[in-house]
Amino acid sequence: MTKLRELYRCEICGNVVEIAHEGAPALVCCEQPMGKLEAKTSDEGQEKHVPIIVENSECSCGCAGDLCIKVQVGSVEHPMEDKHYIKFIEVLTVDKILRAELKPGRAPAAEFCVKKEDIVEIREFCTVHMLWKK
Ligand SMILES: [Fe+2]
Repeated sequence: MTKLRELYRCEICGNVVEIAHEGAPALVCCEQPMGKLEAKTSDEGQEKHVPIIVENSECSCGCAGDLCIKVQVGSVEHPMEDKHYIKFIEVLTVDKILRAELKPGRAPAAEFCVKKEDIVEIREFCTVHMLWKK
């Protein structure tokens, strides 16, 4: 049974979906059940995937980091190449999901207008190494 906010992926076509209304017995894509993505929490060796909150005094909204956060993927910057990059970063609060959609060639980071204390989870999706969370 699907649960709210879960992510599922088709191993054949790579389709990724997020549950916005729970309760389906299964998700099917390419005539096969989709696999639920389980978020990993640590890399072996250099940390390139776990999202972290970094200092944001140059926030683009001008709040100097008082109202917004910046999330970066990895303590060592994750690659942003055509076939291997961070597709999205999500910040989850009790009743919201904020998602930044990234592209190859950009920094593996994004700003979010959210108070640090309201965050319940931060996660990101790498096109090669799948789902990671803090
Ligand atoms: Fe990766």
